[in-house]
Amino acid sequence: MSLKQLTFEFEELSGDGDLNLQNLELLNKARAITSNAYAPYSKFFVGAAALLSNKKIITATNQENASFPAGICAERVLLSAIISQYSDNTVDAIAITYDNKNGASNYPISPCGICRQSLIEFEKRFNHPIKIILAGKTGKIYLINSASDLLPLSFSSKDLL
Ligand code: THU
Repeated sequence: MSLKQLTFEFEELSGDGDLNLQNLELLNKARAITSNAYAPYSKFFVGAAALLSNKKIITATNQENASFPAGICAERVLLSAIISQYSDNTVDAIAITYDNKNGASNYPISPCGICRQSLIEFEKRFNHPIKIILAGKTGKIYLINSASDLLPLSFSSKDLL
């Protein structure tokens, strides 16, 4: 038996003031779009914004459904929009934020497991890491170098060969 250990490093910033202007703009676009979320069941309004290699910013929100499993997270709505409209661009960074109408929105949340898997598929497909910026409306901000860092030992196409 051998004991294995996986670790990853990310940056924790104390607040908006520590972000560079490009990342701040991306995060603020994600914050602004939270109001377009359709979240009548959870009251948890998520906004995501992607910076593409052509410098365009694409935004998306979570879209819930009375049949709960039919709801889609903001991150996967975002990836679908990007690939449908801008497939010749790489995604350089994605900011993810939220407005929790039931509670606090002052700390970073991180993508669910399915979204992590979807983000990794994108990274592998375009062979390009996607930086992830996680934040609430206020408070600390996490900067993660690559979506793959969020899902160690992930399943991928090479396992199908
Ligand atoms: N949600 C997202 O859109 N992204 C996340 O990273 C976490 C959760 C959505 C799914 C659901 O509509 C609501 O937030 C509560 O789980």
